[in-house]
Amino acid sequence: MRSDKPLVKRWKTAATVVAVLIILRALDPAAGWAQEPAEPRIDEEIAKQEKIYQRRGADVPSGYITNRGLSDYAELLPTGFCDALSRLGGSDRWLDIGAGAAQAILDYYAPAGDAPAGEKCARPGSRARAVAISIEDRRTDKWRQQAASLGDDRIRYFFGKSLRHYSVEELGTFQIITDVFGGFTYTADLSRFVDKVLSLLEVGGVFYTLVPGVHLEGGDKLGSWYLTELENAAGRPEKVCSWLKKCTCVKVTCESKSDWKRPTELIKVDKVCSDVSVPRMKLLEFGAGYPPDRRFQLDP
Ligand SMILES: C[S@@+](CC[C@H](N)C(=O)[O-])C[C@H]1O[C@@H](n2cnc3c(N)ncnc32)[C@H](O)[C@@H]1O
Repeated sequence: MRSDKPLVKRWKTAATVVAVLIILRALDPAAGWAQEPAEPRIDEEIAKQEKIYQRRGADVPSGYITNRGLSDYAELLPTGFCDALSRLGGSDRWLDIGAGAAQAILDYYAPAGDAPAGEKCARPGSRARAVAISIEDRRTDKWRQQAASLGDDRIRYFFGKSLRHYSVEELGTFQIITDVFGGFTYTADLSRFVDKVLSLLEVGGVFYTLVPGVHLEGGDKLGSWYLTELENAAGRPEKVCSWLKKCTCVKVTCESKSDWKRPTELIKVDKVCSDVSVPRMKLLEFGAGYPPDRRFQLDP
C-alpha cells in the first residue's frame, strides 16, 4: 500500500517502530532464537550434517572417526559384547549400524594372527555373517578384497540411506546389533531409530551401543558437557536409560562412564519378546556436528 506521508516523515515513523520493537524484544526474556520457527533451522542443520557425512580425504574432520577396529569396539561397548560375538555360529548374523569403513567386521574376519587385538571376539572356525550399514560409502580396497575372497555374501555393506529407510525384508534379522558412534549418536529421530533396531533384532538377540554426552543413570559429574538431552512431556530432564527402560519387551542394562572425556552411557538392550513398543521422542533441536547436538522431548 502506498503512503501519502513525505519520505522523511515515513522514514522517521519506520525507525520509531523498529526502535520500539527492539526495546520490547530486549524486555521479553522469552524472546530470542527459541521463539523463531524451529523447523527451517533444524532442516538447515540436518542438511549441514549430510555434508559432514559426504566429506572425503583431507576434508574429513579429524573428530569424525570412521575406522575403529574390533578391539576399539570391545573397549567401547558394554561388558560381554566380545564374548557374545565369539559365541555366534556360522548361521548367525551380526549387524553393525554406522559402520564407517567397517574395520571392525574386517578384523572379525581377519585370518587368525592378523588381528590379535580383536581375536578374542571371534572363535576359530565358523563366524557369523556380518552386515555393515553406513549413510556414505566408506568401503576400502581391503573391504572389496575380503568380501570377494570370502564369497557367499558372508560380509555385506549397505550404503546410501539411513537405517530407518531399510525394511526387515531387505536386511533380515540379527542375533547381535552394534552401533559405535553411528546412528544412535547421530540420528535426528531417536525413537524411530530404536524401533527399527528392535524390529531387526531376533527375540533373544542383543543390541550393544553407547551414547556420549548424556545425563548418566549413575549420576552426573559437575561441569559435564552434554550432546544429547532428553526431557519428559513436562519438560523435565529424562535420562536415556530411563527412557529406554519404558520400551516394552526389552531388558536394558546401562554402564555409566562419568570419568570419560564426555559422560557416556554404555547400553545393552536384550530383546525378550516380540511385542516391542518404543515411547516416541520428538526432536526439539539439532545442531550439526561430529557428533551433533540434539534435544528430544517425550511425546505425551
Ligand atoms: C563417526 S562414523 C563411526 C564409524 C564406525 N562405527 C567407527 O567407530 O569407526 C559414523 C557412521 O554412522 C553412520 N550413520 C549416522 N547416522 C546413521 C543412521 N541413521 N543410519 C545408518 N548409519 C548412520 C555414518 O554414515 C557413518 O558410517
